[in-house]
Order: sequence, then C-alpha cells, then structure tokens
Amino acid sequence: MILTSPSISRLNGIQKVVEEIFVNSDCFLFIDDVIAENPFSYVSTVYERMNFCPEYIIGIGGGSVIDLAKAISVSSTIEELQEIFYHSKTLKKYSNVIAIPTTFGTGAETSYGAILYDDEKKIKNGLRGVEVQPNLVYLDFDLYNSASKRIKALAGFDCMTHCVETYVSLKSNDLIRYQAVKSLDTVFCNLEKAVEGDINAVKKMAIGSMMMGFNLAFSSTCMPHRLQYVIGPLTNTSHSEGLAALYKGWIQFISKNKTGPFSDLAKDLRMSTSELKNKIERLKKNLGIDYSLTDFGLNTNDIENILQKVSGNLSADPYYKDMDSVNEFIKLSL
Ligand SMILES: [Fe+2]
Repeated sequence: MILTSPSISRLNGIQKVVEEIFVNSDCFLFIDDVIAENPFSYVSTVYERMNFCPEYIIGIGGGSVIDLAKAISVSSTIEELQEIFYHSKTLKKYSNVIAIPTTFGTGAETSYGAILYDDEKKIKNGLRGVEVQPNLVYLDFDLYNSASKRIKALAGFDCMTHCVETYVSLKSNDLIRYQAVKSLDTVFCNLEKAVEGDINAVKKMAIGSMMMGFNLAFSSTCMPHRLQYVIGPLTNTSHSEGLAALYKGWIQFISKNKTGPFSDLAKDLRMSTSELKNKIERLKKNLGIDYSLTDFGLNTNDIENILQKVSGNLSADPYYKDMDSVNEFIKLSL
C-alpha cells in the first residue's frame, strides 16, 4: 500500500511512478488523498478501501502521511486503532513500513509515535511503541525541496523544537544531548538557506530532522508539545504554527533560569542563555512565523479551558512544577 497526500502526489508525479512500477499488477493499493493531522473520520475511509493486509506500507509525505502508515502497520481495523489510541496496549506489527519523508521537521521517519486525531471527541494523541517505528527510511532531497517555502519554514521550526525539548527533558541522556546540540547547530546554520532551496542545506536539515526522530523515540518532548495537542484542534492551526506561538512564552519561561538544562544547552552551543533565547526568537522572525496565541484568537479567558484539556505526561519536563507553571507559560505565549 502506498500512502501520500494530494499535494505531494501532484507536485512529484507520484501516481505516474506508481503506475509504471505496478503496471499489470493488482497487488497494490494507491491512496493519494491523505489529509493533515489524521482525523479518525478520514482514517476509517482508508480502512474501508483496504481489502487485504499489506506486507509493506510506503508513506511518501510529511508527518501525517508517515504517521498514518505507522498507525495502520500496528492496527488492522479502525476499531483496533481506536482501542490502542485510548488504552495503549501491546502492539502487533501487521505490515512493514517504508518512510519517504518530504519535510524536514517531524522526525516521524524514525520516531516511535504516530499522531492521530479523534475529530468527534476533539482529542489528539499518539500510538506509541517500538513497533510503530518505520522499518526503512529513504531520504530523497529533491522531494524535500519540492515543498513550499512556508512548509519548509514551519517544518524546520518543528525540528528546532525537538532539539530543544529532547535536550532539556528529564528523559534525556548524553547521547540525546549530543545529537540535539549537533542538530540545533544544523538548524541555525542551514534552515533559512534550506527554505530558499539550497540543496546542501536541505540535505543537512533532512538528516538533522531524522536524527531528532531518534531523539523523540528515546527522550521526550516537553510542555509546548503537550499544549499544542490542545490548541491545535481549538484554533484549527497546524502542529508547527501552534509550536511557533507557544515558543513565544516557552523560551521566555525557561530562559529566566540562569542554571538548568536550557542554559546547559546554550553552553554546549557556546552561547549565553540570553543569546540562545534571542537566536530562537530571531529565527522565528526571519522565517515569518513569529506568532503568539493571540494571533490565533485566544486570550486570558481561554486559559482555564486549555488547562483542563492538557493530557499526557508533563513530569518529564524539568520546568513543569504544577498547573500554575503551565498557566504562566500560556500567559507568556499570548
Ligand atoms: Fe513536533
């Protein structure tokens, strides 16, 4: 089974390639209408079109496409998928997954998570486990470069957040921190050039993003990712747009401490804490994604509602003390 999105299929002539490879063959299913965020109402239509259990699922696309391939590889029906989504259980691997990423950012090509969205209950969550990780990854740098400048900027910012959060997380270790520092340096040196189409910069970003997928698998993200899962459905904004807005407050919140993991990260990059803070804020401006939660129509009256919806484990975040700390972080992001 080959999964891709309409824009990727159209931009890169995927259907033509697939038809040439599988000429006179009926042993494949080509689905090129995958939509962002993987809402259950859409995912169930994919299961309806599957009348066999694929030996291989090839996901060609951004995080949503690859996450859908990963999710279907561990659940043979929509009911089984929902069961895992709500009551994480031992996973069975039905299909091998080949990931062909087209954006440098999500790390979906190597991470252990597949993010999905229950659009009826308005809950975003992930299937997690080693079985979810793709079996094989192909990096095709021209595919990455076919994305628009805005998509590249947003995806690259997501990669940047994975560097910062997997580094500061309490689940981090020396290897994670080493990879995070290297990838963050890659983002600072290459993201803006990659957005402009510099193929060497695109290559470096693609590898940095893939390495951060491993970091996501072995460390964890922090409060911004937990909060994005709430504000995304609430404001109808993408993962990276939400993160860009949340980093307005997050960076202010964590850079107040002159010691701790964020200042360690700055030291590893040979910067002061305020220099690192300024560099991230400048990157947001240069990429044209300098959002705040206010830009998405939220205000102080929404904070209580957001706090009630936060789920997932916040305890790996060294800057999380109690819900008051989340409250302060949200206020700074407005
Ligand atoms: Fe992310």
